[in-house]
Amino acid sequence: MREGDYDNLISIIRQRRSVRKFEPGRSVSRETLAKIAEAGRWAPSGANVQPWDFVVIEDSALRDEVIGVFMRQAERLKEFAQGFPAVYKTYLNNTVAIVIVLGDPRWKVNFPHGVTEASEQEYAENNENIFFSSLGAAIQNIQLAVTACGLTSAWLSGGGEATTSSALSDLLGYPKFMRAYGTIPIGYPAKDIGQRFRRPLDQVIHWNGYEGEKYRTDEQLEFHHQQLRPFTMYRNVEDAGDWDDADERLGPWRDAYCTGVTNPGGKLPG
Ligand SMILES: Cc1cc2nc3c(=O)[nH]c(=O)nc-3n(C[C@H](O)[C@H](O)[C@H](O)COP(=O)(O)O)c2cc1C
Repeated sequence: MREGDYDNLISIIRQRRSVRKFEPGRSVSRETLAKIAEAGRWAPSGANVQPWDFVVIEDSALRDEVIGVFMRQAERLKEFAQGFPAVYKTYLNNTVAIVIVLGDPRWKVNFPHGVTEASEQEYAENNENIFFSSLGAAIQNIQLAVTACGLTSAWLSGGGEATTSSALSDLLGYPKFMRAYGTIPIGYPAKDIGQRFRRPLDQVIHWNGYEGEKYRTDEQLEFHHQQLRPFTMYRNVEDAGDWDDADERLGPWRDAYCTGVTNPGGKLPG
């Protein structure tokens, strides 16, 4: 490790953005796409089982068929998950490639298993966590490599829904028991999205034990779910207190979004 590596790393981490509009008429080399997959290959995984495969779609006709699957996925979201701020999937049109991260659940057999029914249940539950966390690590590595290659991406989880994954499996030929847990459209950003809302650092760090003053209450969750979610998802500002309409949007919840204290007094539910 060299001095200065952190600065480079955090700069790429901060630049990685979920971009949903790409420049038309661009292309990318297979060499670059292989570099991106290489970053995924080096992700950590439970018991080092590497429960993933990366399907890289660079053929434009096939890419258009994959886009069709996601257009139908977006329509279903609008119909069956009403209220969720679904984005239109038309932006996928100008992607230069799409990487589908498949998860193979059979490899969970290598994670710890219990010798009694009760212990097996406990271990089996945690094995789900190990499996999904491993896939998340691979997806994140891929996204960071996309950024480091001067491109941009998003993280589409909709491919993991049974209906969508089944349609993708018909198209791409992978076994039905595998799922597309992460679909990563890659392209050149059509506009510069520098920032997104992040909770303040002081709010997410708990030094030497859980700090009750940083607990996000059920009331805050309700406010977030009912009123704030789309703004924290799509506004290009890191600090919600810098929004032009911060007073109106945040009201009495300003401190909970802009400071290290979300729960004055620190009382926790029993
Ligand atoms: C597990 C996971 C699933 C996501 N699923 C979707 C998705 O289906 N569609 C989408 O447009 N963005 C999706 N995103 C992207 C998030 O909306 C995005 O990361 C978040 O709003 C923060 O923005 P940023 O990535 O630009 O920092 C997902 C992100 C994660 C980590």
